[in-house]
Amino acid sequence: MVSRVIPVDTFDLVIFGGTGDLARRKIFPGLYRRYLAGQMPPDSRIIGAARADLTPEAFRETVGAAIAEFVPKDRQDPAVIAKFLTRIDYVPIDAKGDGGWTALADIMRDGVVRAFYFSVAPALFGDLAERLHKHGIADGKSRIVVEKPFGRDLESAQALNAVLASHFSEKQIYRIDHYLGKETVQNLMAVRFANILFEPLWKSEFVDHVQITVAETVGVNGRGAYYDKSGAMRDMVQNHMMQLLCLIAMEPPYHFDPDAVRDEKLKVIRALDPVKPEDIVRGQYLPGGGEGGYLEHAENPASRTESYIALKVGVSNWRWSGTPFYLRTGKRLRARASEIAITFKAVPHSIFDDAKGWLENVLVIRLQPNEGINLMVMIKEPGPGGMRLMQVPLDMSFADALGVDAEDVSDAYERLIMDVIRGNQTLFMRGDEVEAAWAWADPIIDAWDARSTRPQGYDPGSSGPEDALMLMHRDGRRWREIKE
Ligand code: BG6
Repeated sequence: MVSRVIPVDTFDLVIFGGTGDLARRKIFPGLYRRYLAGQMPPDSRIIGAARADLTPEAFRETVGAAIAEFVPKDRQDPAVIAKFLTRIDYVPIDAKGDGGWTALADIMRDGVVRAFYFSVAPALFGDLAERLHKHGIADGKSRIVVEKPFGRDLESAQALNAVLASHFSEKQIYRIDHYLGKETVQNLMAVRFANILFEPLWKSEFVDHVQITVAETVGVNGRGAYYDKSGAMRDMVQNHMMQLLCLIAMEPPYHFDPDAVRDEKLKVIRALDPVKPEDIVRGQYLPGGGEGGYLEHAENPASRTESYIALKVGVSNWRWSGTPFYLRTGKRLRARASEIAITFKAVPHSIFDDAKGWLENVLVIRLQPNEGINLMVMIKEPGPGGMRLMQVPLDMSFADALGVDAEDVSDAYERLIMDVIRGNQTLFMRGDEVEAAWAWADPIIDAWDARSTRPQGYDPGSSGPEDALMLMHRDGRRWREIKE
């Protein structure tokens, strides 16, 4: 199946931090792929802006190198790359001074969408916003894109929101959470709101519990300085996992419209219970597999920062009261596997003698890799020998079912950048949503900071710390196996 490409309007997109890691790994390769797919109008331009005193030619070379490194070889078309590079420009800019701003103002065109991607440290957001206005580069129709981390607690997030709000309206601000750009994450909404099948059962009356797992095999190598100040709670739970939880738990919005969707997500965050310390397990990976442990990469050799966290979260509203959501995420685990599993309650009474207690259905939404949906159903074990039951998956792998080549599924970043150009904020976080998520996360982080216990060590390649198993066992449940 060939996916439909709807071209966007012509744009001038300025990437502040254009020489940075995110630009190299994600933004430029993603834009090239959109260009290759015919979605980016050929007269659009991408303007890198950073401190480095580069010529546009030198900058184009770095973009060419990024495409060579991060775009799959069979998607690298030299003729298309050459044309794409003609759409790239560069302006050296001083975020904290006036250097470069007039040059930037001079090359911006009228009559096209103007978007500004702040791929820089949050401490510079205010400087950039202010100068864009002072130099008349941004107007009421321009859009700005800001990256995570959006603050490190409620107070800093509020301060960032205030700085941006002094120059831009909420309709102009696109806060990225790249999980919302993932194909299967959007599919969550399609599964829920375009099928009658699941919705009547989507509540505590029928759902025993929900498991959300984001397991990674990579460690924090090279990112220790950032990561050690964040930990899994700030790096993954407050944002990505929170978004997944919201999409599962939210009420149907009246329309697939940015504010309707975000209003419903916000209500979920506000309904989250405070999490008790005994419902949280933190872990740190140990040395193993030829690599150092977390502590060898951390800034502080006695760091208490968690590279793994598991929590049991309650949502106090009519739909979910009594159904726990178990979240876990960690580095250096057994496999790279992200999934959401909705475990439905067992049938109220088993008429089959041989199958007591486990007549349950599980809906598994696999986010990555092998995106797809799996519904575990009970059937009769084939053959003679009585009425023995077994659980089998109704397996729908998107790649198989849709004939889509994984390489052709657009990456989260490219999809989200195209949404910015279209002016569609549905998959971006609103300021109040981010603040509510911090308001929930802050007491959890503060309570941990006030204690002196250490995270539990776990072996690389394992499923995480032992205590995380207990978190489920004591409720008579167990985690699903982490596997690709
Ligand atoms: C980032 C985190 O936001 O998401 C990383 O900072 C993490 O620590 C990454 O590895 C995971 O993203 P993905 O798309 O690979 O699941």
